[in-house]
Amino acid sequence: DRDELLFSYKGILYPVTFCSPEVFKAMESLEARSDDMILAGYPKSGTNWLGQILSDLLVIFEKKTQNKESSVNDEELEEFPYLEIGDTGKYERMNKLPSRRLIFTHLLPENLPRSIFKNKAKILLLLRNPKDVATSFYHFTNRMSPLPSYETWDDFFVAFMTKKMPWGSYFEYLSKWNKYANDENVMTITYEELKENPVLGVKNIAAFFGISLTEKELQSVVERSSFQSMKKNSQKTHGAFGDVLFRKGGVSDWKNLFSEDQNEKMDKAFEEHVGGTKLGAKLKY
Ligand code: PPS
Repeated sequence: DRDELLFSYKGILYPVTFCSPEVFKAMESLEARSDDMILAGYPKSGTNWLGQILSDLLVIFEKKTQNKESSVNDEELEEFPYLEIGDTGKYERMNKLPSRRLIFTHLLPENLPRSIFKNKAKILLLLRNPKDVATSFYHFTNRMSPLPSYETWDDFFVAFMTKKMPWGSYFEYLSKWNKYANDENVMTITYEELKENPVLGVKNIAAFFGISLTEKELQSVVERSSFQSMKKNSQKTHGAFGDVLFRKGGVSDWKNLFSEDQNEKMDKAFEEHVGGTKLGAKLKY
C-alpha cells in the first residue's frame, strides 16, 4: 500500500524507510560550522553528481591543508552524508567530526537546523528543470521498493503536481529556496548549466567553498564526475542501486513522457511559483 511507505512531518511526506520524526527532532542539535559544505537539492536534481564533485574537492582541500586529524580513524567517523537519513545519534556524532564536513540534504530551508543559517554554513543549491526532475523521479520511484510505484506516467504526474511526493512538492521547493538564492552564503547552480559547461561549474563551486585548484586537479574533478565515469564506476560506489540511479543523465528526456496538456500544466505551475524571477529564468528549458 502506497500510504504505508510514506509519513507526514510538518506537512511534508517522507519515506518511512529513510526518515523518522524522531530523527527530525534530533537534527536540531546539529552544530553547523562556517566551513561546512552543504549541498541542497530536491530528489533527482543530480545530488549524487554534485556529491561526487564535492567529495573530490574536499579531498583536494584536505591534501593541501592537511586538515585531516591523522590520529582519528576515518572509518569510525564517517557519517552517511545525507542530513535527514540516519539514526537519532547521528547529529551528536556529526558534532564531533573534524572539519570540513560534507552534508547533503533534500529538505526545505525552513526544515533545516537553524544553526546552518546562524553559523553561516555555505550552501550549494542545486536545481534542475522540473520536467526532467519529474521524469527522473517517475523512473526512479518505480524501481525503488521503499518508494511508491505508479501504474502509469499519468498517475505519477498527478501525484507530482499535487504535492504527494516524498520530500514534498518541487514547486514549493523552488519558491521557498528562491528566497535564499541571492544570499551571500548560498550559491545556485543548475543541472543544465553544469552539463553544458562542467569546467566552469566546477571552477565556480571550488571558488565558492574557498578551494584552489590547479588546472590538472580541475580536469580530474570534471573527468571523474562525468556521467560516463560515474556510471562505469557505479557498481563499486553504489552497488546494485547504481543501475537505478545512473539512468540517462541528460537534458530534455521529459519529451518522451509529457503530453501537450501535461506540458502546459507544468509550465503554468512553474510560472506561478518562480515566473519572473532570476531563478525562474535559469530553469527555462
Ligand atoms: S537522488 O536519488 O535524489 O539522490 O538522485 P539524484 O542524484 O539527485 O539525481 C539522479 C539524476 O541525476 C543523474 N546523474 C547525472 N547526470 C549527469 N552527470 C552525472 N555525473 C550524473 N550522475 C547522476 C541521474 O542519471 C539521474 O537523472 P536521470 O534523468 O534519471 O538520468
